[in-house]
Amino acid sequence: MKVTVVGAGNVGATCAQRLVEGNLADVYLVDVVEGLAQGKALDLAQAAPLARHARTIEGGVSYEGAQGSDVVVITAGVARKPGMSRDDLLKINGGIVTEVCENLKAVAPEAMVIMVSNPLDVTTHLAAQVLQAPRERVMGMAGALDTARYQTFIAWEVGCAPYEIEAMVLGGHGDSMVPLPRLTAVNGVPLNELLPPERIEAIVERTRQGGAEIVGYLKTGSAFYAPAAAVADMVAAIACDQHRIIPCSVRLEGEYGLRDVFLGVPCRLGSGGVEEIVEIYLTEEESAAVHAAAEHVARTVAEWEKLAG
Ligand code: NAI
Ligand code: 2OP
Repeated sequence: MKVTVVGAGNVGATCAQRLVEGNLADVYLVDVVEGLAQGKALDLAQAAPLARHARTIEGGVSYEGAQGSDVVVITAGVARKPGMSRDDLLKINGGIVTEVCENLKAVAPEAMVIMVSNPLDVTTHLAAQVLQAPRERVMGMAGALDTARYQTFIAWEVGCAPYEIEAMVLGGHGDSMVPLPRLTAVNGVPLNELLPPERIEAIVERTRQGGAEIVGYLKTGSAFYAPAAAVADMVAAIACDQHRIIPCSVRLEGEYGLRDVFLGVPCRLGSGGVEEIVEIYLTEEESAAVHAAAEHVARTVAEWEKLAG
């Protein structure tokens, strides 16, 4: 498996490290800043004897090195600063993602694409539009991260290991995300039998603000360790053909009563990319929240189209 990671900043470089040191893929790292991807790739390559792997990692400013990639992870763009929403990034990142995908189209037209740059659901829509790729090949990473945050907060409250929490966060990557406490369990025990409603609501709210909480601490950028781990988890599902169900942002074509919009829903990931969109029963309230998230994404796409002319 060969993975190209576009953007050698915090998320991109950490993701590259996870992929090679987790023995998941050979990596090509590309960044618009001269020397950045080359330098970080060289540094990561020299860690190989210590991290005990034989994966290759190279970097550059040219997209030529992306040829033959099975998967491309796009992290290029600017990150949030305190007070900014993810949507505020669209003016800059919309243009960057469009340019990146035009470059990729020429060298890796068959690759699967995992979008990371924000605002996530909108940039994933833009990538699919530029690449003209089938929907199983273009997906956005957000639900995997939002779910991991939700699991972590629950584990702290309940006093168990985070991986013992079964949970899923759907919807948009932002205030309109939809955690599903009704379907959350700790080793099979329903969450609402372990925690009172007000504690669960507080965890849901902290999850919604999970990215902003970290921006508030870092001040000059946003989270990257957990986001990189979430991308690596998606790559593992594809590379190892695991057929695992992971929430991803994908184009809906009638599922959940929605069409032509990218939104986080449960997807089965394997060597074919998004092999299935899993439709689960949602209560009226949950379904309304998912539809509200879709309206928000559609509105932001329309704003971008106006902006881009
Ligand atoms: P960063 O600023 O550390 O890295 C971004 C990199 O992109 C920089 O090295 C920059 O030179 C590069 N870049 C800019 N324009 C480029 C172009 N045209 N071609 C190639 N490279 C280009 O930012 P960080 O923290 O790595 O975040 C990257 C993006 O990922 C941000 O938009 C951020 O909001 C988003 N993000 C999304 C998450 C999600 O859950 N979907 C989680 C974390 C971050
Ligand atoms: C996050 O949730 C910035 O979207 C990114 O941390």
